[in-house]
Amino acid sequence: MKIAVLKEQAEGERRVSATPETVKKFIGLGAALAVEQGAGESAAIADADYAAAGAVIGSRAETLKDADIILGVQGPSVESLNGVKAGAMLVAGLNPFGERARVDAYANAGLEALAMEFMPRITRAQSMDILSSQSNLAGYKAVLDAAAEYGRAFPMMMTAAGTVSAARAFIMGVGVAGLQAIATARRLGAQVSATDVRSATKEQILSLGAKPIFVENVAGIEGEGSGGYATEMSDEYQKAQAELVSSHIAKQDIVITTALIPGRPAPRLISDAQIATMKPGSVVVDLAVEQGGNVEGAVLGQVVVKHGVKIVGHKNMPSRLPSDASALFSRNLFNFLSAFWDKEKNVPVLDEEIGTAIRLTQGGKVVSQRLLSS
Ligand code: NAI
Repeated sequence: MKIAVLKEQAEGERRVSATPETVKKFIGLGAALAVEQGAGESAAIADADYAAAGAVIGSRAETLKDADIILGVQGPSVESLNGVKAGAMLVAGLNPFGERARVDAYANAGLEALAMEFMPRITRAQSMDILSSQSNLAGYKAVLDAAAEYGRAFPMMMTAAGTVSAARAFIMGVGVAGLQAIATARRLGAQVSATDVRSATKEQILSLGAKPIFVENVAGIEGEGSGGYATEMSDEYQKAQAELVSSHIAKQDIVITTALIPGRPAPRLISDAQIATMKPGSVVVDLAVEQGGNVEGAVLGQVVVKHGVKIVGHKNMPSRLPSDASALFSRNLFNFLSAFWDKEKNVPVLDEEIGTAIRLTQGGKVVSQRLLSS
């Protein structure tokens, strides 16, 4: 069983899908590890560290040759997998909805493509969940980015020269990223408020010492769909939410938006008119910018200024913390494959529930119901 670890080729991607720690653990399971030269460079892992852990370092072609399992952070293009053997398993964050044509190409190449972001949200799969591990870091980094762009301090400071007032931070979307953003902004000393469509988050917001801002008295606002994810909200709810946000947002210094709905474009939460009501020098970070954006005017990969407000639209937030993001992503991959490792056959054998959820292609066909029905 040969496992290949590829150097990521997507622009700006600094993470890597295995670390010396997981390389050692895979070898402990009985696998042989091949790591492409320079794979860990941008996450501060040298080829020598992988070699010391027992991996063979080589060119991309050498790494891919006869590989049974290919690990990646993002999905590689099929052209870049030249020479891969049919039936090989590709395990990565494959962005199945966004890269549908590439999924078809994986099927045509005979690959068994497994999308880690389709991991079901069940207790036993928590340690395999790349969305959680990466969102947590993204939420943290979004606050640091906001602090870096903000021309003032976060905490209240009483100095001999006068008092600096605490920044007001508003977190929109309280999933994994939002919860970490609340915690981080609180640690930095901001006064934090937060909102979500899922009413279950109210208690979580309070438990982190922040103030919940919620639409009240609108029918059917539970907002929770399957797997703990949000659903799209009614027109009535969206109108009530926009009014609530308008009055609150004008008083905020920092806004961090994280709202996502799986398989749908990100919901629009902040309009240009609402940005115009904020104080100049305020900062808005749109963590959903890659899924279409929560904030009108956010530009993917850029910091833009609108009405004196900075709108931060960094791409690939987890990759801005490449070492920790790689360590957690790699453990997710190891936790997943090792949980299904058949010691006698020396191969991973997926169970029905998880296999069906994450398998995109098999036997030359796209087999994911979630993709086929979208
Ligand atoms: P996500 O990344 O899909 O969305 C982020 C947040 O945006 C969610 O809280 C969502 O409710 C919110 N949102 C969507 N539309 C909105 C709108 N119009 N206005 C305001 N907020 C809006 O969510 P994430 O971070 O993946 O977490 C979703 C849930 O799944 C959470 O309850 C989390 O605790 C749970 N979870 C469960 C896991 C498990 O059991 N294995 C693992 C990870 C998360």
